[in-house]
Amino acid sequence: MREQGAVPAVWGILLILVIAGCQCHLTGEERRYQYEIKDFQVPLDHFSFLINATFNIRYLYNDSFVDKSNARTPIFFYTGNEGDIELFAQNTGFLWEQAQLQRALVIFAEHRYYGKSLPFGSSTFNSSMPEHLAYFTVEQTLEDYAMLITFLKNDRQMPVVAFGGSYGGMLSAWFRMKYPHLVHGALAASAPILQFPGITDCDIFYRIATSVFQNAYNGNCTVNIARSWKLFESLGGNDAGKKQISEAFNLCTPLKTDGDLKQFLDYVEEVYSNLAMVNYPYNSSFLAPLPAYPVRQVCFYLKDLHTTDVDLLHAMASALAVYTNYTGSAKCLDTSVSSSADASGWDIQTCNQMVMPFCSNGTETMFRPSTWNFKEFAEKCYKNYRLTPKPYDIILRYGGRNIESVTNIIFSNGLLDPWSGGGVLQAPNDKVFVIILPEGAHHLDLRHSDPADPPSVRDARQKEAAIIAQWIKEF
Ligand SMILES: *[C@@H]1O[C@H](CO)[C@@H](O)[C@H](O)[C@H]1NC(C)=O
Ligand SMILES: *[C@@H]1O[C@H](CO)[C@@H](O)[C@H](O)[C@H]1NC(C)=O
Ligand SMILES: *[C@@H]1O[C@H](CO)[C@@H](O)[C@H](O)[C@H]1NC(C)=O
Ligand SMILES: *[C@@H]1O[C@H](CO)[C@@H](O)[C@H](O)[C@H]1NC(C)=O
Ligand SMILES: *[C@@H]1O[C@H](CO)[C@@H](O)[C@H](O)[C@H]1NC(C)=O
Ligand SMILES: *[C@@H]1O[C@H](CO)[C@@H](O)[C@H](O)[C@H]1NC(C)=O
Ligand SMILES: *[C@@H]1O[C@H](CO)[C@@H](O)[C@H](O)[C@H]1NC(C)=O
Repeated sequence: MREQGAVPAVWGILLILVIAGCQCHLTGEERRYQYEIKDFQVPLDHFSFLINATFNIRYLYNDSFVDKSNARTPIFFYTGNEGDIELFAQNTGFLWEQAQLQRALVIFAEHRYYGKSLPFGSSTFNSSMPEHLAYFTVEQTLEDYAMLITFLKNDRQMPVVAFGGSYGGMLSAWFRMKYPHLVHGALAASAPILQFPGITDCDIFYRIATSVFQNAYNGNCTVNIARSWKLFESLGGNDAGKKQISEAFNLCTPLKTDGDLKQFLDYVEEVYSNLAMVNYPYNSSFLAPLPAYPVRQVCFYLKDLHTTDVDLLHAMASALAVYTNYTGSAKCLDTSVSSSADASGWDIQTCNQMVMPFCSNGTETMFRPSTWNFKEFAEKCYKNYRLTPKPYDIILRYGGRNIESVTNIIFSNGLLDPWSGGGVLQAPNDKVFVIILPEGAHHLDLRHSDPADPPSVRDARQKEAAIIAQWIKEF
């Protein structure tokens, strides 16, 4: 999931998915888990009795752990989020480890409009057919998942536990809220279900991201980053300076216009947000191939207070390369935007229901100052997709902070995750569990266990496992 809003709608969302997109071609080493890939037919529009068109969503299936003599086999169901489902299957080791323990059937369902689950094939995102986007909602997606579970259960009594991280965690939580007869519990990891207008401060994301950088190496890191924006803007004001930036960062396409400069700055800002999210304690390749604690590595290059422009520029380039060139295989730095299907998906969702305000008070964060302007945002959505966002739709449907009546959901949040600002940090009742990971990045607890995991993550997984086991026992 991408934070956006400080950034223009089009560029805002794309980075994670562009970068994640490259990861979809998983290399052998990243393929920890195996499964069969299956298709499931779903109605294009679950809520219409006029349209009976259908299409296929993909899901991943593994029944190797299942005890065939157990009539009440648990189903562990990952509610797929914004990307190719195989990426999430490979990065959700906790589900696999628990499935082995509980002898569960493993299912990862792909979200409609992502990966290969495209309702209109290659014309799904064709901008001359905006009507193709009409069925791209949370509700249609949950209905897909409800039908798939019903099909898998095939009239048998089986406890279902939903798992999800980030937007996938929001879906898990909402799935349990709306379909309690199908889903007996949900683990919603790093799920910012409160990151919506009027119920959470718009600057919380950038504040937390800044604090991650502040505490990573030494205090000079955020000072350098905060200063760099002025430097980029003053250098970028003339052709010689644009050339200097292009060379220092080894840009594939040298900066020519002010639009190019803006795209470059948006890219850099996104990289910082992504780094804070995936600041995992071991090397990983979720959003990009990265060393352990990548923010620390970035801040290592920014540990001295740079007084000359040239020094600061080169330090910034080295720092950014931790994210863009860890493998050393990037020939040049490409900050342009791909128009691939995955890349547009999340941007489109922010333009219908997932309206998440972001802003930054330039004096208190290392990011550029920005304000949240819904009117401007909505105009861009209309221009790009003919969509009119509904900022209060999610709160209307799922309750915002009013979730007292909800049960059997675990909300886990790492306090070092910028998304935790929009997470549920206080349990509304004793059937909802809030698990805090003081040292956790974005859904670290959902990942496989690793010797480098901090103690708080091990504890969190243990608690989660015990609650899930209890749900299954109670069933
Ligand atoms: C399911 O996972 C198990 C354990 O990782 C693996 O041995 C098995 O081959 C997988 N099944 C399929 C069909 O890929
Ligand atoms: C839709 O329903 C009509 C009437 O039952 C039927 O003739 C048609 O084949 C259906 N189309 C699809 C795609 O199922
Ligand atoms: C989009 O649809 C239009 C109208 O059907 C078609 O002419 C065009 O080739 C399509 N564009 C792409 C990129 O497929
Ligand atoms: C992580 O580090 C190990 C050991 O240094 C290395 O073998 C592995 O390829 C690295 N993985 C990634 C994703 O960089
Ligand atoms: C910041 O960098 C300067 C050198 O440029 C160094 O003397 C100082 O100790 C650094 N600050 C911190 C908090 O380490
Ligand atoms: C990436 O690293 C390699 C090896 O250090 C270097 O040759 C290359 O120029 C770097 N690419 C970029 C974009 O800086
Ligand atoms: C940032 O916050 C400070 C102190 O709260 C305030 O004085 C300033 O006006 C704010 N700046 C912006 C750009 O909102």
